[in-house]
Amino acid sequence: MTGQDDSRNSNSPDANAPKANSLWGGRFEAGPSAVMEAINASIDTDKRLAEQDIAGSLAHAEMLSAQGIISSEDAAAIRRGLEQVRDEIRAGTMTWSAALEDVHMNVEARLKEIIGEPAGRLHTARSRNDQVATDFRLWLRGACDRIDAALAAYQSALVAQAEAHADTVMPGFTHLQTAQPVSLGHHLLCWVEAAERDRGRFADARKRLNQSPLGAAALAGTAFPLDRERTAAALGFDRPMANSLDAVSSRDFALEVLSAAAIAATHLSRFAEEIVLWSSRRFGFATLSDAWSTGSSIMPQKRNPDAAELVRAKPGSIIGSLTQLLIVVKGLPLAYSKDLQEDKAPVFRALDDLELCLAAMTGMAGDLTFNTDAMAEAAGEAYSDATDLADYVVRKLGKPFRSAHHIAGTAVKLAESRGVPLSGLSLEDFRSVDADIRDDVFSVLSARASMESRTSYGGTAPVRVKEQVARWRTRLDGAST
Ligand code: ARG
Repeated sequence: MTGQDDSRNSNSPDANAPKANSLWGGRFEAGPSAVMEAINASIDTDKRLAEQDIAGSLAHAEMLSAQGIISSEDAAAIRRGLEQVRDEIRAGTMTWSAALEDVHMNVEARLKEIIGEPAGRLHTARSRNDQVATDFRLWLRGACDRIDAALAAYQSALVAQAEAHADTVMPGFTHLQTAQPVSLGHHLLCWVEAAERDRGRFADARKRLNQSPLGAAALAGTAFPLDRERTAAALGFDRPMANSLDAVSSRDFALEVLSAAAIAATHLSRFAEEIVLWSSRRFGFATLSDAWSTGSSIMPQKRNPDAAELVRAKPGSIIGSLTQLLIVVKGLPLAYSKDLQEDKAPVFRALDDLELCLAAMTGMAGDLTFNTDAMAEAAGEAYSDATDLADYVVRKLGKPFRSAHHIAGTAVKLAESRGVPLSGLSLEDFRSVDADIRDDVFSVLSARASMESRTSYGGTAPVRVKEQVARWRTRLDGAST
């Protein structure tokens, strides 16, 4: 006999010992240890699913009654009760209990307090396994819609700036070295394109996740004559999921949304880094207003782009969330395992972060004022028109591009030795490099001429940029209802 056995056989139960769970504790005599309760409870996280949980229960109860599985009186009582629970949650008066583990059991327990016995019929032909999968899909569908709207607002802020700056010339970079002049509008529209693909990824994920797990029950379906089409339609799902095991165990829908979020956050982070660079004294290309700047507690002169830096950093948590959920799901056998309860925290954290980043980037995109003189000056530096000289030699003198490249390189070397830009060389200087060069060469030697010359489809010439601005206006104004 061990000490443990002695205590189990004791006839004096501790009046303070926790009671078995009233919703599933039929075969239990005692409640969980405090640590068991702490590791098991998810209510602090999943109470965010309360609206979706109640919507799912309303649809389920209505269907049970339409199918004659519960009486219409019970269904009406359940409906009234659930609506009251929903009101209490919205009003902030609901008491959440960790002893009741999760949102599903908290809502059901409160329903029982309000309506009594009929509450016990709600869970007929249902399990928390199909319930939580339904709630989570509904929540993610809403999140995809919110993020789509936020991405559209971000695009609109960028398009407005692009429209104002289609003609503004700035240096385009490769390797962060001055490369060729580009239009600031063109640069900003690049991020509009990226955001459009992000919207596509969220839309894609939303389309695939919009199927109903409800009615899969614990894992195998149910013997009750459910109408799964009916609950799917009531909840706005396209159809019921066709495999009950899949319905309760798959989480790739959340992984897809997190992947889309990770990619979107990465785009935001790249533009955020440009804002950090542009607003630095060294670049001096742009200024953020006081609303988007912070000071230093020791250096009175500082204006720091903290919000941009934080957006630059946030992919750390967002990509981390994706990795976290991939690791939770990998290796899990069918069907449901409690591991899957760990799916919500990373999703909520990542999408909260992304929404905040989008709001910040939309704010900053609209807030930036550009120092167009500094940009134009920088655009003309570092022989950014050397390609234009080579192109001139090809187009006007009919030489092969490889020779033209060499001629332009020789001219750059000569100008560099004199400490002047290409336009600072004389015609004689050019002729010393190649005797065929004429004085029309000077017309191609400026940052603006360079930018304006790049009229190929997708190029940086302001005429092309304005066409793209018009296309985006149609797309975004048409989409925003
Ligand atoms: N709180 C659980 C979760 O989020 C609900 C499903 C629990 N299912 C179960 N069989 N214990 O996954």
